[in-house]
Amino acid sequence: MALPVTQKNSITVQTTLPVQPYPLISDRNPIKTQRLIIRPFQASDIDALYELRLQPEVMKYTKKGVPDINRTESQEILDKMMGSPGNDMYNFAICDGKTNVLIGTGGCHLPVGEVGWPEIGYMFRKEAHGKGYATEFVNAFLDAYWVLPRVRTEVVVDAETVELSEGVTAAKECLGAITTADNKPSHSVLRKTGFERVKVFEVLGNHPQEEGDMTLWAWTVKWPSKAT
Ligand SMILES: CC(C)(COP(=O)(O)OP(=O)(O)OC[C@H]1O[C@@H](n2cnc3c(N)ncnc32)[C@H](O)[C@@H]1OP(=O)(O)O)[C@@H](O)C(=O)NCCC(=O)NCCS
Repeated sequence: MALPVTQKNSITVQTTLPVQPYPLISDRNPIKTQRLIIRPFQASDIDALYELRLQPEVMKYTKKGVPDINRTESQEILDKMMGSPGNDMYNFAICDGKTNVLIGTGGCHLPVGEVGWPEIGYMFRKEAHGKGYATEFVNAFLDAYWVLPRVRTEVVVDAETVELSEGVTAAKECLGAITTADNKPSHSVLRKTGFERVKVFEVLGNHPQEEGDMTLWAWTVKWPSKAT
């Protein structure tokens, strides 16, 4: 999804962002919800992660677009998540609360996303769809994300993501998300967790099964809409 067709109108704003680096993986405590454990990745997640990343119905909606070719590819992802690159993301294994087995992954995987703001992503194995797990995850994730230590900073963001009056360049911090225009379950998750659609744009599809332009939707949630 890398090649933009719709032109961007960028603007520099004063805002806040989580202090970098994020808390180290080794210092991140599991987040428990009613049915889920949201925790750092561990070596024993490989079988479940590979199974998840083999599901075409799931991978279709990821940036990669297609299942992993072999276990080695999934292992490389897991190694990245558990190693030092994982410290630069706020990304988690999402596990069944009773068995601690990975059923999905999610979190803030991009510090500078498509519309300039950090970006959230998530995916669950198909057997877990339609049970409200993604909504439960995003709500818990936002609670944890908004209370991370903050720093005041300048960010270049898409002008359509901020409301600015003339001469004012301060903006409330946002977290972004990108979906394809047809991903109704994900739209529903984002709406239920406080995100609003802020932009519709076209990119040159680079998924192997896609040809021509692809319509994407950009979403943002503003700090601290979920903080309690
Ligand atoms: C998007 C995704 C994470 C949603 O997970 P989920 O746990 O099913 O989400 P929830 O149950 O919390 O909410 C999804 C909503 O869509 C509905 N839904 C779920 N699967 C659906 C399907 N296959 N067809 C139609 N509706 C569906 C749910 O019933 C629910 O509806 P509601 O809002 O009326 O309650 C999951 O479908 C997935 O992993 N998809 C593949 C990867 C992906 O798309 N990631 C997001 C990229 S932006």
